[in-house]
Amino acid sequence: MKKPWGGRFKDKTAKILEEFSESVSFDRRLWKEDIEGSIAHAKMLHKQGIIDDKELNQLIEGLQEISKEIEEGRFVFRTELEDVHMNIERALIDKIGATGAKLHTARSRNDQVATDLRLYLRKEVSEIVELIHALQKTLISLAEKNIDTLMPGYTHMQKAQPVLLGHHLLAYAWMLKRDLERFKESLKRINQCPLGACAIAGSSLPIDREFTARELGFEGVIPNSMDAVSDRDFVLDVLYAGSVVMMHLSRLCEELIIWSTDEFKFIELPDRFTTGSSMMPQKKNPDPAELIRGKTGRVYGNLISLLTTMKALPLAYNRDMQEDKEPVFDTIDTVNLSLRIINEMLPEIKFHREKLESSAEDGFTTATDLAEYLVRKGIPFRLAHEITGKIVLHCIEHGKKLSEMKIKEFKEFSDKIEEDVYNILTASGSIEAKKSYGSTSKQMLIQQIKLLKKTAGL
Ligand code: ARG
Repeated sequence: MKKPWGGRFKDKTAKILEEFSESVSFDRRLWKEDIEGSIAHAKMLHKQGIIDDKELNQLIEGLQEISKEIEEGRFVFRTELEDVHMNIERALIDKIGATGAKLHTARSRNDQVATDLRLYLRKEVSEIVELIHALQKTLISLAEKNIDTLMPGYTHMQKAQPVLLGHHLLAYAWMLKRDLERFKESLKRINQCPLGACAIAGSSLPIDREFTARELGFEGVIPNSMDAVSDRDFVLDVLYAGSVVMMHLSRLCEELIIWSTDEFKFIELPDRFTTGSSMMPQKKNPDPAELIRGKTGRVYGNLISLLTTMKALPLAYNRDMQEDKEPVFDTIDTVNLSLRIINEMLPEIKFHREKLESSAEDGFTTATDLAEYLVRKGIPFRLAHEITGKIVLHCIEHGKKLSEMKIKEFKEFSDKIEEDVYNILTASGSIEAKKSYGSTSKQMLIQQIKLLKKTAGL
């Protein structure tokens, strides 16, 4: 098959090079954006008097027919035509003849591919923004449903202080808020138009870049033609935002995995989102959570992969940049599916309230409250910490909980301890006693939910 650059060549491309350099097997996913971009470009050529009415109609009809063929699975993509752009252009020329050969006037695949990728990412990132928003909503409604459920909070994976389950869950909702901002921020930079930069230096033909940018819904035109075709920072923004959201989801998944173990028994994962073992009949495995955790590594890899590809490329376009597509497609797919899975799975999880609450009572989780109680009675915090530490040691040695200590026993450690100490020694008392902004009291949680709803536009 004759190449578009055939004029300058005597010999045919090596078969092995065709196989090595093709991208159509994966970039065919840009076909819609490619056709959209071509139609806008054709309209611009027409408006500028570069093609006439008849030619414009032919081009648009031809491109629309191709669009239909692809949509219906009737289009044959050929490896020897390298990428999606040349496949569509060749099909157009085969369909409408010489006019088809005018489409590529004042255009290169370099500005074409950058345009397609931006249009594609604009759509995909907008969808991810919606999915993050939906997951925030799910977390908020879970927090509302569990507004009174207590659990132990952990630091160093050791019991720390009692918290409300809703407070714990909303920590993720706030992370997602920032993820959403990161993706939205990337959209601003994605939505700038490179079309008309041509191969590197622009064109001597009277093109109108503002027109095509407007036609395609871009916010602006990239002012430097070399920058327009040579950078992929807008892709890296997405790969980074994708890495961070996956890191957050992975941490949540890690907790779900731990909480569902026989040792913790904080939650029961839904049958619909677990799998069994082919050998051990009793097993119920948290595979989707493990897979999200596992796929996070791949998404990080995609970021590093493109950063590495780009780091030593001289201006402007280099073929290396074709290597941007597989990582970004993979990240988009992985982030999209992971968000959907978690969002569907979360509302079906059963929280074992009694277990969560009894666990919140164990392990001297209210020791800090006792120290703060002593501070309120005028004892300096460091000393209060020391006294409380001694009380905890006493409890461990005598096999009792803080709340099981008699007042007489307490007095041996500090005469400042009175009957009212028992109010803060239970998990619920500890939580109710919290006063500071952003803390885990119910009142604060209600305020937090309101604020989150407001920022999320809910
Ligand atoms: N398939 C190429 C890519 O994805 C399209 C641009 C090719 N440009 C070129 N001058 N060979 O980057």
